[in-house]
Amino acid sequence: MLKNTEERYGLLPKLLHWFIAVLIIGLIWLGWYMVDLTYYDRWYNDSLTAHKALGLLVLALALVKIVWTLVNRPPPLVATLRTFERVAAHAAHGLLYLAMLLIPVTGYLISTSAGAAVSIFNWFDVPALVVLDDASRDVAIEVHYYASYAVAVLVVIHALAALKHQFIDKDGTLRRMLW
Ligand code: HEM
Repeated sequence: MLKNTEERYGLLPKLLHWFIAVLIIGLIWLGWYMVDLTYYDRWYNDSLTAHKALGLLVLALALVKIVWTLVNRPPPLVATLRTFERVAAHAAHGLLYLAMLLIPVTGYLISTSAGAAVSIFNWFDVPALVVLDDASRDVAIEVHYYASYAVAVLVVIHALAALKHQFIDKDGTLRRMLW
């Protein structure tokens, strides 16, 4: 079943959720790993090429997920949640959607700030849309950096909340997002 129902997420949103989750967790790790590399390391160029291409893949998948969510509404939160849990869940989901857009967009702006295109594994190029001055580029770098740390913390809280609801409250929250 591709579409969401009143009780469960559909196959497409589930696939998108877990694929984007793996990519984002991988990109956070790759980001931390690659900034410590020097020019003489074997992965110096390839790690950055992969980071840019996979980051743009997250952006494309996030746009598909957002359009799908608007067209086919997700199941309502589990009925037994208290008010503050509902507010926290909606806030966390909203911030995760924001991060899925903001982090790749700022990464793209940094990469293309001097007018160079981003190569997607030498398969095709995503052209630069705007050229940034140094001050705007610095803002994009700061946002990309701090938003990545913030999303790492948010993902841990989000995952712990899902596990707590599944295994302590036993309200089936995680099962709705699984097969
Ligand atoms: C980078 C990683 C992740 C991102 C960006 C992310 C993002 C999201 C978003 C935006 C939603 C709301 C979907 C909607 O209703 O439109 C969601 C739901 C959910 N996520 Fe994640 N997620 C991530 C990782 C995880 C992990 C690691 C787990 C579990 C261990 C998890 C478990 C869930 C569950 C169970 C729901 C459904 C909640 C409900 O039905 O109330 N997520 N996620």
